[in-house]
Amino acid sequence: MRQAPLSKIDLVLRPPVLVYGGPYSNLRALTALRERADELGIPASHVICTGDVVAYGAEPEETAAAVRAWGCHVVAGNCEAQLATAAEDCACGFEQGSECDRLAKGWYPFAKARISAESRSWMGGLPGSLTALIGDLCVRVIHGGVTAINRFVFASQRGVIAEELEHAQADVVVAGHAGLAFIERIGNRVWFNPGAIGMPANDGTPDTWYGLIGAEDNSLLFSTRRLHYDHQAAAAAMMGHAYANGYARALVTGLWPSLDVLPPAERAATGQRLHERTVRVLAAAPTR
Ligand SMILES: [Fe+2]
Repeated sequence: MRQAPLSKIDLVLRPPVLVYGGPYSNLRALTALRERADELGIPASHVICTGDVVAYGAEPEETAAAVRAWGCHVVAGNCEAQLATAAEDCACGFEQGSECDRLAKGWYPFAKARISAESRSWMGGLPGSLTALIGDLCVRVIHGGVTAINRFVFASQRGVIAEELEHAQADVVVAGHAGLAFIERIGNRVWFNPGAIGMPANDGTPDTWYGLIGAEDNSLLFSTRRLHYDHQAAAAAMMGHAYANGYARALVTGLWPSLDVLPPAERAATGQRLHERTVRVLAAAPTR
């Protein structure tokens, strides 16, 4: 079952493991997630972030510093890769001229101007992926796609997921970037996006999302979980910045300011409340 040679394994972890993505400069969401990890008894050594620590929110430097202080594992997102080199844009993969592209011209310079040299240096040292052995499964943590850091991969795109999994050299891929939590199984492999903690999931609720990898008998359990946090305070912190008002509203309404990046199925689900899910995978499945 194991898809990566042992020499490529960076971490060996015993469940539970907490995985999350997209803090997006939302310090209050990050603080709430850390408290949740403490409640669950999960140490920083068993927490992995899929990147985009910095993006839309009001506190880019504070959030980056808080992630470092926590000491969890972090895979570089496109935002970290770009900020590390003081690049001119976020390289999010938005279509030129789209609403997302226009909005990124607001938040990216805001974040870039506030990131310290220390944070920039930390971002430059982040790995592009991490491979963990969890139970007997090889779990590869990436940012967007296996083939491109800024590839958007959504649940409805079964063909894209299958293609990406073919390149993964792992049983399970944990990915971020797309901002919506989902778990999709294709054959014996699993694509697990634990969602983003820094922005709601366009489901009409202000909650954000993280993921857990637990164990039961000889199986691993992959779960998506809601995160409640002080979204009103996070929105208030953004309202003073002109670029950010659309994102501030999204923190409260739970609806994204633009649906540009969404495939038709996810677009049609706008405002429909998402449900937490758990998918069970045999931890010692037979070799294909
Ligand atoms: Fe990203």
